[in-house]
Amino acid sequence: MSLISVFKSLYPAIAGPLKPDDEFTSPHQRELITYKKLNDDKSPFSVIAHRGASYYAPENTMAAFELAHEMNADMIELDVLLSSDQVPVVLHDPHLKRTTNGNGNAQDFTTKELKKLDAGTWFSSEFRDEKIPTLQEVLEWASGKIALNIEIKPEAVTVDAINGIEAKTVQLVKEAEMEKHVVFSSFDYRAVGRIKKRNPEMITALLYNKKISENKNLVWLANHYNADGMNLNWSEVYPERLKQLREHNIPVWVYTVNEPELMKHLINRGISGIFSDRPDLLRHVAGKEK
Ligand code: G3P
Ligand code: MG
Repeated sequence: MSLISVFKSLYPAIAGPLKPDDEFTSPHQRELITYKKLNDDKSPFSVIAHRGASYYAPENTMAAFELAHEMNADMIELDVLLSSDQVPVVLHDPHLKRTTNGNGNAQDFTTKELKKLDAGTWFSSEFRDEKIPTLQEVLEWASGKIALNIEIKPEAVTVDAINGIEAKTVQLVKEAEMEKHVVFSSFDYRAVGRIKKRNPEMITALLYNKKISENKNLVWLANHYNADGMNLNWSEVYPERLKQLREHNIPVWVYTVNEPELMKHLINRGISGIFSDRPDLLRHVAGKEK
């Protein structure tokens, strides 16, 4: 691992969630964002395919996205990092080893080099032709078809608030005319705040992380970063917290749930959506089958 890679991977921890160039507080008039607004669906509950239908196909590949669409997911969640030539690519881990036949830090490879890798065989030989998609490819495929939650990985966020990954992803979303069908999220709150500050029309959500939140109240955080929604780990869903977020019209989307009993329990608590590797099962449990 090069020194630059080490620095990049440690950067969010070193820098913390907020730097002086990132002042986000703004008056908040929040309208509850439901899936209806994102995709003309009448149901207030969204079935979100986590990294695509990643229980059945290799995560963050076109195969997983196609399958999620076939399973009637309402939305697909995907993760983005930057290649060395600064192109947003769809990949969860900063390191290539787990989900491709490559080795090294993805952000040290050009898009052309990343495209040569096999992103499917690690899952099953049936998927050996799968490639790492660029965000542009996924947006072009999804346009007019399905909503997306674009998660910006903290490893790709830098001090560059103007030309960083946030600006590049927003530009691609605009080019694909997907503004009304995309939610941007990140564990790096700076990225979420920057997107909203420069593009108030974009829909954003904070990926709550206790460690980086300095014990701040969730409503305070959503207001401070002007976020439209809150993405919570299922273990962070407490009744009092839900009540407070609901009172402030802040939708709660919960990740990552693959067990039907837990799905049922959370749906009964009135959350706005669940991220699952099994969108077909979630759809069934949520009673959204056609
Ligand atoms: O966006 C929800 C979820 O994907 C966050 O965690 O590690 O799966 O990207 P992770
Ligand atoms: Mg994710």
